[in-house]
Amino acid sequence: MTAVTATSGLVEVHNVHKSFHGVEVLKGIDLTVQPGEVVALLGPSGSGKSTLLRTINHLETVDAGSVTVDGEFIGYELRHGKLHELREREILQRRTQVGIVFQNFHLFPHLTALENITEAPLALKRQGRGEARELAFGLLERVGLAEKADAYPRQLSGGQQQRVAIARALALQPKVLLFDEPTSALDPELVGEVLDVIRDLAKLGTTLVIVTHEIGFAREVADRVVFLDQGRIVEQGTPADVLTRPQHPRTREFLAKVLG
Ligand SMILES: Nc1ncnc2c1ncn2[C@@H]1O[C@H](COP(=O)(O)OP(=O)(O)OP(=O)(O)O)[C@@H](O)[C@H]1O
Ligand SMILES: [Mg+2]
Repeated sequence: MTAVTATSGLVEVHNVHKSFHGVEVLKGIDLTVQPGEVVALLGPSGSGKSTLLRTINHLETVDAGSVTVDGEFIGYELRHGKLHELREREILQRRTQVGIVFQNFHLFPHLTALENITEAPLALKRQGRGEARELAFGLLERVGLAEKADAYPRQLSGGQQQRVAIARALALQPKVLLFDEPTSALDPELVGEVLDVIRDLAKLGTTLVIVTHEIGFAREVADRVVFLDQGRIVEQGTPADVLTRPQHPRTREFLAKVLG
């Protein structure tokens, strides 16, 4: 759904390997996401979807290979032909280019909706307090929650909390937004309101990588569906190809399961 011509937000994942305790969970991932492209990442539990997302914004280091956003490493710099991990402060600055929204919202419980959104921009000295609050109000409006600015997370439904989490991610004006099963912790009747917000983002030309089991949504919104199995991309293509005419037996098996 690349409606607007985006000029930034190119993600290049090149031959990424990652192991935990000697078990390789990413076995050489190559994935390029174009500016403004919407990629749905599908795969069975344990296939490495979350780990892959987390390597994109350097919440996870890689053992081999590289990840860049618009040609820049998030967690590393190249010196004398070798990659060196950057200092925490620099990583935090660069990580703001890639927002991430988690399944369980991860809002700060002691901050209001508005404060959750202004926290990072203020900590990073992006704006003064007044400007940050104004921008946060605008974002709350955009996700349909202007009247909830002063509510604490415990006073909000799951769907509302997730919309605040999306507004919070947007406050840093990321080039790329990652979603890790953004609706799977929600009651079924609350899924739609969150998907509506993500759909709007897709139209606006933000690069999106979305891990989801919402196959109907992936079919509608994604430009490309990527299917991951046991740490490898086994199949990818347009939603029509992958979801309607899957070629790989593992893709067929997975779709049969999630589509019931
Ligand atoms: N920090 C960690 N330490 C040890 N093992 C980990 C860690 N993170 C992930 N793993 C393991 O790596 C594998 C891939 O996990 P990952 O969370 O990426 O899968 P996933 O595809 O997101 O699964 P799910 O659909 O259940 O969320 C799993 O076997 C998991 O147990
Ligand atoms: Mg996961």
